[in-house]
Amino acid sequence: MRLVLLGAPGAGKGTQAKKLIEKNNMPQISTGDLLRAAVGEGTDLGKEAKSFMDKGELVPDSVVLGMVEERLQKDDARNGFILDGFPRNTAQAEALDAMLDKLGMPLDAALSVDVPLEDLMKRLTGRRTCKGCGQMYNIYFSAPATENECEKCGGELYQRDDDQEATIQKRLEVYQEQTAPLIDYYGGKGILKSVSGTGNIEEIFNNVVSTLGL
Ligand code: AP5
Ligand code: MG
Ligand code: ZN
Repeated sequence: MRLVLLGAPGAGKGTQAKKLIEKNNMPQISTGDLLRAAVGEGTDLGKEAKSFMDKGELVPDSVVLGMVEERLQKDDARNGFILDGFPRNTAQAEALDAMLDKLGMPLDAALSVDVPLEDLMKRLTGRRTCKGCGQMYNIYFSAPATENECEKCGGELYQRDDDQEATIQKRLEVYQEQTAPLIDYYGGKGILKSVSGTGNIEEIFNNVVSTLGL
């Protein structure tokens, strides 16, 4: 399956994508994760990206599109993929359609994970991520058994630089203005599906699986 995951910051795109990978053996392509890896490596691209990410703004399309195009051409994407956090605006969505057209791999679905705006701040300020395996926790909703230690691999947990209240506020505005219109974009193409992203993570996942027919 070739899938786009849509949803506001904190909606649970990463959380649900990681569960889909375990079930279906297809790669998660998260532009946020790719950008954070470039920031961590200190590459020129990473340095440019960081200045936008720290402000909660979108990184320029030119940077992101090149990265995605390269990633989609790797062998593991031939059996399907989950795009998480991409596309983020109409220009990116149109560029993606053109790229996938050229590769002969059109999208099967765009799944919107819907969470009320007022729930998102706590999810994001409370998020902690494992440095070792990327597993996500939340100090309010799903704290690890031992503080700051990953239950899966024992790795150390960290808080993302952009999970500060002021930056989150900006990310939510950017989402409303630039990304939310993609719900209509994919609706118009007849491939939009949606699930509620509120409640128990396992139950949401069961809905994701049945909605996608997996
Ligand atoms: P990105 O990394 O994509 O961040 P985002 O869209 O803001 O989304 P998040 O990763 O914050 O949320 P998520 O939906 O994955 O939630 P998660 O599962 O972690 O982008 C970061 C930045 O990179 C952007 O601001 C931009 O600068 C740049 N960027 C990235 N892509 C770009 C692009 N295409 N173009 C331009 N710039 C780009 O869950 C969040 C928390 O909630 C966790 O703690 C989790 O445990 C918890 N949680 C999950 N589900 C539940 C539940 N059901 N109940 C309670 N808690 C839950
Ligand atoms: Mg994410
Ligand atoms: Zn871990």
